[in-house]
Amino acid sequence: MTLPPLDSWWMPFTANAAFKADPRLLTKASGVYYESVDGRRILDSVSGLWCVNAGHGRPEITEAIARQTAEMDFAPSFQMGHPLAFEFAERLCSFAPKHIANVFFSNSGSEAVDTALKVARIYHRARGEPERTILIGRERGYHGSGFGGTAVGGFDPYRVPFAPMLPDVAHLPATHSPEENRFSPGQPKWGAELANHLESLVSEHGEARIAAVIVEPVAGSAGVLVPPVGYLERLAEICRAHGILLIFDEVITGFGRLGATFAAERFGLEPDIMTVAKGMTNGAVPMGGTLVRREIYEAVVGAGSGVELPHGYTYSGHPLACAAGLATLGIHENERLWERAAALAPSFEERIHGLISAPHVIDVRNLGLMGAVELQPIEGQPGERAAAVFRRCFDAGVLVRFTGDTIALAPPLVFEEQHLTTVIETLGAALADQGASR
Ligand SMILES: Cc1ncc(COP(=O)(O)O)c(C=O)c1O
Repeated sequence: MTLPPLDSWWMPFTANAAFKADPRLLTKASGVYYESVDGRRILDSVSGLWCVNAGHGRPEITEAIARQTAEMDFAPSFQMGHPLAFEFAERLCSFAPKHIANVFFSNSGSEAVDTALKVARIYHRARGEPERTILIGRERGYHGSGFGGTAVGGFDPYRVPFAPMLPDVAHLPATHSPEENRFSPGQPKWGAELANHLESLVSEHGEARIAAVIVEPVAGSAGVLVPPVGYLERLAEICRAHGILLIFDEVITGFGRLGATFAAERFGLEPDIMTVAKGMTNGAVPMGGTLVRREIYEAVVGAGSGVELPHGYTYSGHPLACAAGLATLGIHENERLWERAAALAPSFEERIHGLISAPHVIDVRNLGLMGAVELQPIEGQPGERAAAVFRRCFDAGVLVRFTGDTIALAPPLVFEEQHLTTVIETLGAALADQGASR
């Protein structure tokens, strides 16, 4: 296939000049494979971008989208509605942990997060505590690209170029300590006490000023940082004690990734708000959702007259996204994909930790079907070693993801042992090459 001109598209989170000089284009997808523009089969070990949890090209989803676009392509959601959005909301809230009663639809994880932050503030205002405006994120957290998500996010390279960020934002320390936790299989044992830093922020600002804490249950984009045993439980306890809302950003961890329907289920916790996207429609149509407990919906809707929450998107509850979401939920429920993930997780853990002795590996982390192999950076060229490993894997027919000098894996939940074998062998060979060449 001849390539289209590559000049015009300003690509997201991409080194545009380098990519356009050496492009990697995908043209087809089916099951756990992509096909590249040069006709090669590429095993997808990252579920596209942490989203295609049920595998690519599921006919249940593609047919539902096709039917819906023929029946009704679009319907406005401002002072109007359409049945499918209500049906999907109902089904999604039943699939979510029991304490969740309502969902606000958006089009991405970033929008789901900005919605959650706004909902937290308006909730406190509705309850007569308008001074609760401080939003607390965590270092090395990623909460999307909106201004709210960027501000609570914990990556300087993503924040500094756009400074100044929003006021009334503070951060907890990151949970990962290489000294204490290097090479921990599953949840590291050390570090629950890092949650106590929230108490210090409460003392510093006063509990009456703090609206919400937002964390990824397992930080994904920072390179799979797994919460220490007891950390999330302690965070939830402190939030509850001080009337602070706890937001779990489940954009990656939702829909089976950790071997439970949501991370909240896996950890047995009841975050007040949960943000979802990605796996929600199996990546087939963009969609995000902000899930809340009933008291939040009731407080805001009960306090207002007219439009209680002046917030929303033209495409909130888009018919194609709802059709895709309903079909996706059907697959999750019929095939109990979270149980498949749980069944495959021990083998995934064993295999990824088998890479510990490969050249340049300085850490391996995993939980459920999320895993990361962190590499020693090449001196003076941060990110270059992982980029080289990523390219080597792609040339050998396996799509992995890299972030900084960490290689991340998040296979579709329908992966089988043989697929894991191929991924780990290919990654091992790519690392060995690095060993030989540097
Ligand atoms: C935890 C988390 N929150 C939010 C987002 C943003 O989602 P989106 O890229 O759909 O806006 C991401 C994306 O990777 C994410 O991992």
